Amino acid sequence: MKVPFIDILRYENHFYETVTTRVSELIKNGHFVGGPVVGEFEKAIKDYTKTQFALGCANGTDAIQVALRAAGVEKNDKVLLPDMTFWATFESVVNVGAVPYTIDVSKETLHLTLASVKEGIEKFNPKALILVHLYGWACPETNEIRNYCKERNVLLIEDCAQAVGVKIKGESLFTRALVATTSFYPAKVLGASGDAGGVFSTEQKIADTAKILLNHGRTGHYDHGLIGWNSRLGAYEATFMVEALKYLDQRLESRRNVCKQFREKITHPALKFLSPASDVWENGYLSVALMTPETRPAFIEYLKAHDIGYGTVYPGAMSAQPGAVSHLGGKISHGHAEWIAKSIINLPCFAYMKQEEIDYVIEKVNQFKA
Ligand SMILES: Cc1ncc(COP(=O)(O)O)c(C=O)c1O
Repeated sequence: MKVPFIDILRYENHFYETVTTRVSELIKNGHFVGGPVVGEFEKAIKDYTKTQFALGCANGTDAIQVALRAAGVEKNDKVLLPDMTFWATFESVVNVGAVPYTIDVSKETLHLTLASVKEGIEKFNPKALILVHLYGWACPETNEIRNYCKERNVLLIEDCAQAVGVKIKGESLFTRALVATTSFYPAKVLGASGDAGGVFSTEQKIADTAKILLNHGRTGHYDHGLIGWNSRLGAYEATFMVEALKYLDQRLESRRNVCKQFREKITHPALKFLSPASDVWENGYLSVALMTPETRPAFIEYLKAHDIGYGTVYPGAMSAQPGAVSHLGGKISHGHAEWIAKSIINLPCFAYMKQEEIDYVIEKVNQFKA
């Protein structure tokens, strides 16, 4: 048997048929960029994430850039971010002319902690912080970090690229986020038919500015109140996601079931499966386990030999990337991000993974000779 790390083609039959019918309507009507379906998607994702304002844009990286600018981050401002994230978080800060400062994450939760945020704010006095929620979880101290940033007047931008559908104490992660962003890259839990992203806010002013920025700074058709760029959402992508949203809870349930079975049934001592905090409802984006850096290479070879896909999300710290060198303003490192990068392993996880595929992974992993 061969089990891929991810298979994004496991759709519901009805979903595929509806999307293709709707896309041919778009072509007939010449709706390629924007149009009514983008509004339809924005309303649907706003309702799903339970926020005040939701905007579609071209991708998750642009979404962070739009969010930083709309929240008030300007040239040379200092922005804190975790050392363990996807490169886009780091890159976005530089692209808006600000200066990135990395802070280390916890070895236990793999996320920022209130203590690490406090240390970073004390040491660097930043204008903003990007809190990143990875693996389909939420940072365990999200609400504490939100309150602290408010108290210290630090703008908080939340990178929820992996966290659509995540809840804290039964409440959508997006509901209390001043500004949040996401990616609808096809491999995300809500994936589009190409690149797409979203910007969310609880404040009208931020949402209004974001809307202007992502459409050439437009305040009228040929009136440009700001220097923005073109980050508009395409009509096909919006259509694909309007239909996908109807099945999202079902897809998340299927993913969560994979993570749950791995946690319960993989008993091999070389793998330590992690879970989100007890009050966090995960979306099942990734299955996460830690191994020792010494054991992981042999385990990866074993997975390859048995045709089991895997991920190492992520295999390097941001501050250690060659592209970071000339941009990094400063960092607080305890070596945790580097250690996680060498220890993390992600087993296959996607919606509608078959039970025999799940069983195969469990059986093979349990038979690994460390
Ligand atoms: C944490 C995180 N931030 C930002 C992004 C960037 O999103 P995109 O690839 O849509 O630009 C991604 C996804 O790739 C991500 O996982």
